[in-house]
Amino acid sequence: MRFLVVMDAPACIHPTTDTTLVVIEEALARGHTVDICVPERLELDGGEPVAEVESVTHAGRTLVPCMHLAPGQKRPLAAYQAVLMRKDPPFDLDYYFATLILERARGKTLLVNDPRGLRDANEKLYIFHFPELIAPTRVTRSIAGLRRFLDEHGGQMVVKPLDGCGGAGVFHVRADDRNTNVILETVTDFGKKLVMVQSYLPEAREGDKRILLLDGEPIGAVLRVPREDDTRGNLHAGGTAIKATLTERDHEICARVGKKCREDGLYLVGLDVIGGRLTEVNVTSPTGVQEVDRLDGTRLETRIVAWLEERGAIYSRP
Ligand SMILES: Nc1ncnc2c1ncn2[C@@H]1O[C@H](COP(=O)(O)OP(=O)(O)O)[C@@H](O)[C@H]1O
Ligand SMILES: [Mg+2]
Repeated sequence: MRFLVVMDAPACIHPTTDTTLVVIEEALARGHTVDICVPERLELDGGEPVAEVESVTHAGRTLVPCMHLAPGQKRPLAAYQAVLMRKDPPFDLDYYFATLILERARGKTLLVNDPRGLRDANEKLYIFHFPELIAPTRVTRSIAGLRRFLDEHGGQMVVKPLDGCGGAGVFHVRADDRNTNVILETVTDFGKKLVMVQSYLPEAREGDKRILLLDGEPIGAVLRVPREDDTRGNLHAGGTAIKATLTERDHEICARVGKKCREDGLYLVGLDVIGGRLTEVNVTSPTGVQEVDRLDGTRLETRIVAWLEERGAIYSRP
């Protein structure tokens, strides 16, 4: 089979933590051809989505280009059995346009994740599909509204940008901190920018569980424990990955959220769960496979590629 992975430049790959890398390695090991390109290389030729791609091989956990198309030559997305959109956030206008180009490949190849699903699902706001699974949460740009939320929720809350990732811009705000006003002014840009505010979940000290879903089913999980001197469990923010098991409540969350993700074509998803509450649904380029593999002795990438083979097969041409 031939797979296309739309991703950041390979130089951005972190060899020991990147999920995209191990999926590509597994696909290559199973004899598939893997092409990659950055989103900027996606184009429409007439209505036909095409891309200037390069085939890759791998050597010692790095991707090595092994074939370039001739200058100016493009390959149609219809030539692939699956196209994986694995560009990291931010979800900006360029990302949006990339999903509109991918849209034109609908019905011609397996799209993971579905570009319409990617456009509809903001990673923070998606949790509102499941009000019974989340902590008290509000979305506002009002500083007075945020102060009220703080008073109503025990003098502690977490404020986060709607377009952040890796813990960037996430604040644990306390009523008794004299920095509170300036934090709220800064995160909302003086009442102009929407933010999400959530009651503070003390269980976050024990860890933020990342649960990986493949086609709606949990395939692995890892707990990310914050550093003593930080609020955030994100590995990017210095959190430590430790082994995790799924509780009954986690299974309930997976069943509810997984069903909707599958309906939305969000096949590869990372749920963030703190103290049994769903806090985020990562759909753009969820990661965690390497951490789960190391802690659980699994090779989740084999399940992912086997699934791509199975679901991409209908797009095989003679
Ligand atoms: N409601 C909350 N209570 C306590 N800590 C939280 C809460 N929400 C987020 N956090 C902390 O902030 C981190 C990042 O939050 P998250 O919503 O997952 O955004 P990001 O997209 O930056 O990962 C989490 O790993 C967790 O440690
Ligand atoms: Mg998160």
